Amino acid sequence: MILANLLSMNNLENQTIMTLLERAEKFRQGEKAPIDGTVVNLFFEPSTRTKMSFEMAENKMGLAVLPFETAFSSILKGETLYDTVRTMEAIGVDAVIIRHEEEEYYQQLEGCKVAVINGGDGSGQHPTQSLLDLLTIYQEFGRVEGIHVTIVGDIAHSRVAKSNAAALKQLGAEVTFICPEEWSGEYDSSEHLDDFIEKTDVVMMLRVQHERHAVSAMFSKENYHEQYGLTIEREKRMKEGAIIMHPAPINRGVEIADCLVECERSRIFKQMANGVFVRMAVLEYALKGRD
Ligand code: CP
Repeated sequence: MILANLLSMNNLENQTIMTLLERAEKFRQGEKAPIDGTVVNLFFEPSTRTKMSFEMAENKMGLAVLPFETAFSSILKGETLYDTVRTMEAIGVDAVIIRHEEEEYYQQLEGCKVAVINGGDGSGQHPTQSLLDLLTIYQEFGRVEGIHVTIVGDIAHSRVAKSNAAALKQLGAEVTFICPEEWSGEYDSSEHLDDFIEKTDVVMMLRVQHERHAVSAMFSKENYHEQYGLTIEREKRMKEGAIIMHPAPINRGVEIADCLVECERSRIFKQMANGVFVRMAVLEYALKGRD
């Protein structure tokens, strides 16, 4: 049996996505995971939600979790990522969850037999975030096909935007990108959120990723909020039943008005709750593997 990797949404078929979402929904309803194994969470970049919800998922599944702290590991002596992962494999680990600042770090791991689950690679992909976002949209609308999703913010540097762009389009959603022109990356985008706010079903706000690029010293939180943010006035113009999403962490008052973070339309904390069940489904997928 070969353990299954989850590296990107780009090569995931619709059938696989749907199976993962169905399993996540079953776990949300209390189904127990019929699987065991030993896993390690290798986080080389800061994380609150992804790391903690993987830990919660592992706990709920009764998996053995080996502790790993980069600050106390031989990474500090210059050990490579490949040698670190091969070491995990040698001592009997079945799956590693990795967050790393390098885009496509997993290319270095070719030949490793341990299952690799991508917890975010630089500005590349964040597949478990995309899956929990899809689950949240399914729970709300019962489908993704035909749903209009407006993704707003730092598109070029956002692994959330890239993962969701691929998966949402593949599943038949209509996706609009809103951002300053210099942050559009490979995507066609508009700078005018007001042109879309009344017709969109999902407004997905993104954090400005100051750590990934030199934001101009002229960057003004107030100006950004006014031009690209979900303001109180814009929320009032959203159509009935439309929802607000954000992967978090949130810059309150920058991409979204403080009081909207927990407003009636907001599904932000529901997304986080769904993250646990999606990660249970992904761990099951990785550990069950394929023949
Ligand atoms: N959404 C998300 O990936 O959050 P963390 O960086 O806290 O894991």
